[in-house]
Parts: sequence; structure tokens; C-alpha cells
Amino acid sequence: MRILSGIQPSGKLHIGNYFGMMKQAVELQKKGEAFLFIADFHSLTTNPDAADLRERVTEVAVDFLACGLDTDKVCFFRQSDVPQVCELTWMLNNVCPVGLLQRAHSYKDKVAKGFEPNNGLFSYPVLMASDILLYQSDLVPVGKDQKQHIEITRDLAIKFNERYGDVFTVPDCFIPESVAVIPGLDGQKMSKSYNNTIPIFGKEKAIRKIVMSIVTDSKGLDDPKDPDTCNVVTLYKLFASEEQVNEMKERYRAGGYGYGHAKQALFEAMQDYFAPMRKRREELLANMDYVHEILRKGAARAGAEAEKTMDKVRKAVGIR
Ligand code: ADP
Ligand code: TRP
Repeated sequence: MRILSGIQPSGKLHIGNYFGMMKQAVELQKKGEAFLFIADFHSLTTNPDAADLRERVTEVAVDFLACGLDTDKVCFFRQSDVPQVCELTWMLNNVCPVGLLQRAHSYKDKVAKGFEPNNGLFSYPVLMASDILLYQSDLVPVGKDQKQHIEITRDLAIKFNERYGDVFTVPDCFIPESVAVIPGLDGQKMSKSYNNTIPIFGKEKAIRKIVMSIVTDSKGLDDPKDPDTCNVVTLYKLFASEEQVNEMKERYRAGGYGYGHAKQALFEAMQDYFAPMRKRREELLANMDYVHEILRKGAARAGAEAEKTMDKVRKAVGIR
């Protein structure tokens, strides 16, 4: 089974990214052949500064590796190191109805927010379909927000196969219900675009300050509180054992336990959870040659797979 996922190098990794995508990918690497990449072509849709983009690619590479990728098993690479993905995008563009892209939620949301879309943003799902189909992926672990993009990918694979013969594997997405959407500081979906994220890596003091800013209701220390509607408890569940969560819930109901106490418990549980990854990250930062070497090897392996698919695609459409 081939498992593939990607992440844009567009800011600091947050716990939504980790539980929504990375953790799934890291766990699935044991179950099949995993391909993971840094989607730098996708990032160009927002016209980032060149130096910033370069720096963020390296940063996300280190962070992703620190989260537990087994580099003997996983093919980890930078999207732009395999330019065949752009060639395939063009092929898929020609079986992609415009209406399919006009209905894409993530595109419509950005337009509704007043963002003036470029054609790259509009055809973002076609490039994403290319990422997935180029490597003949079976399973794509992503957060719930990406589900429609995977459905578009399936549509394009089916349309292409119907028109040109059986070229592509039709992929499925993998979204465990328990981690489908991780809430942010304000209770909405955690996202860089909403400025409500809790980063995984960073200075302890800064992370504590962020955790302390999670929005709650205004009940006082002595008041009994409802654990089932509180965002702090929802996040605590990601890091604590069932027993610890039940204990926190009891304290909420009993009163005399403030939101500050709960946030401190969350902060400590989070620090413990990510401690081994922080350590690994420091080691990687001290050995960047190793990180670049992993990406180089990944690009070579991914490139060979991409050529196999493109050979079939070119023949199927009548180019070469
Ligand atoms: P952001 O919304 O912060 O820009 P990305 O779009 O870069 O995050 O998401 C990268 C990956 O992390 C995707 O697979 C996405 O589905 C997942 N992800 C991001 N935020 C969340 C969240 N709050 N809950 C679950 N998964 C998430
Ligand atoms: N669109 C994804 C996101 O923003 C990133 C991505 C690009 C991706 N290509 C992909 C994810 C292919 C899975 C498979 O999170």
C-alpha cells in the first residue's frame, strides 16, 4: 500500500497539523510505503518572498523529520525537486471541468474573504491531484479540510482512466474522526490563517503564554464548570490518558479548580508529549547536511517513480 501526504511550507507547525496529518503519516509509515513531501509549488499561490520560502522549506523539513519519520522507510522530498508534477498537472487540466474547481470550498472561502484569486489558487486542487496520482497513491492521510481535494483527485483519476485507459490508482483519504478537526485558541479550527495556533516547537515561555490565552467562559475559580464544552479539555484529551482526562473533568464539575489550573495541566502534558521531538529537532538543526541529504535521496526516489507514471501518461495521451 502506498501512503502519500504533503504539507505546505507556510509557517510554524502547530498541533492541528500534527494530530490532523503528521501523526497519521508517521503511524502509517509502518503499514506501507510512505511518500511525504513539502508542497513548495503550492505555496507559490500566495506569492511569498523567495528568501522566506527557501527558509520555510528547510524549517518544515526539520520539523517533519523531528516528528518521527523513519527515513529508511519513508521517501521524504521537496515537491519542486520532481517537476514532472507540473507536466502531469497540465494533462489533468484537460480532463478537469471548470465547475469542479469553482465548487472547491477552500477556493470559495478565500474569495469570500476578499482574497483576489490568481489562476494558481484556482487550479490548486489539480496540482494536488497530480501530487497524489503521480505516485500512484492508495491512501492520503490529511485533516478534514482537505477531504474535498481528495474527492476532486478521485474524480480526475476516474475521468482520465475512462478517457485514456487504466493509468492511475484511485486513492482514498484517511481521516480518523477523533482528530478530524483540532480546535484553535478561540474554538474555531486551528489554522495559521486564523492566528489561533499552538505551535509544537518554540520557546517554553512563549508556548505557555499561548496556552494561557485559550478562550474560556468567565466562570470564577470556585464555580463548577462544564468540561464537555471547554476547549481546554478538548485539547487536553490529545495529550493525557483517559484517567487524567476524567480527573480533570471531575475537578471542573466540583468547582474550586480554575481555568488557569487546567491550562497549566494542558501545557505540562503538551511539553512532556513533544519533549522527544524537541530533542530530535535540536539534533537535526545541528546536522543540516543530513537533512539536505535525506531530501536529495527522497527526490531521486520520487523522481524515478514519477517517471514511471509519466511514461504511461505520455503514451496514453499521445505525446511521445
Ligand atoms: P493551516 O490551516 O494552518 O494553514 P495547512 O492547511 O497547512 O494548515 O494544513 C496542513 C495539514 O494539517 C493538512 O493535512 C490539514 O488537513 C492538517 N490540519 C491543519 N489544521 C488542522 C486542524 N485544525 N485539525 C486537523 N487537521 C489540521
Ligand atoms: N493542500 C494540502 C494542505 O494545504 C497540502 C498538499 C499538497 C497535499 N499536495 C498534497 C496533501 C497531496 C496531501 C496530498 O494541507
